[in-house]
Amino acid sequence: MKLFLDTANIQEIRQGAKLGVVTGVTTNPSLAAKEGIGRREGYKAAVQEIADIIDGPISVEVVSQDAAGMIAEGREISEWIRQPWVKIPSTLAGFEAMSTLSRDGIKINQTLCFSVNQALLGAQAGATVVSPFVGRLDDIGHDGMALVADIVAIYRRHNIKTLVMAASIRHTRHCVAAAQAGADISTVPYPVLVQMAQHPLTDSGVARFLQDWQKAGGR
Ligand code: E4P
Repeated sequence: MKLFLDTANIQEIRQGAKLGVVTGVTTNPSLAAKEGIGRREGYKAAVQEIADIIDGPISVEVVSQDAAGMIAEGREISEWIRQPWVKIPSTLAGFEAMSTLSRDGIKINQTLCFSVNQALLGAQAGATVVSPFVGRLDDIGHDGMALVADIVAIYRRHNIKTLVMAASIRHTRHCVAAAQAGADISTVPYPVLVQMAQHPLTDSGVARFLQDWQKAGGR
């Protein structure tokens, strides 16, 4: 399972890139707004900066509600960087846009996916990757990870090539469960990536090795 960073924060992306464990980045309008980006030009510049840091797929979301607008935005976004994944919501207009853009060879991240049916439609419409939103389903008392597992199983059974990206990840247990469910990718907020590295026994182990080494006069 590959790891993407779910952020539009350049510092977080630089930090993540230094670790060498991040393959791609997902952004969305809320994440962009959090970084004070509220305009198309600002979003474009930020996405280009991200693409300079991470040599992998960068997801950029459309904001139009109608298919024609999504298609126009998708075509524009696809020119911004080398590996764009245009994020399109799982709506009727979205599926229409996905079909048109995927026929043009543009890579699509089907976002805001909350059901197997939506994932089946996205696959037919040519989505490169589908993003089931785990945390948001958990928030309303559903089992978000069960959706990831169902989509993975059904895609495999029907030999569907669309990748599955666990999104709306809230904590490290989600990362483990996504890997167990067979997700191809998990897109994680930076604090969760940091937590993935942490274990108290690693910290105390490092401290003890150093102590013993110093006791023995080690340098
Ligand atoms: C995925 O691509 C989305 O950007 C993201 O995971 C949304 O998650 P949230 O529920 O934390 O906003």
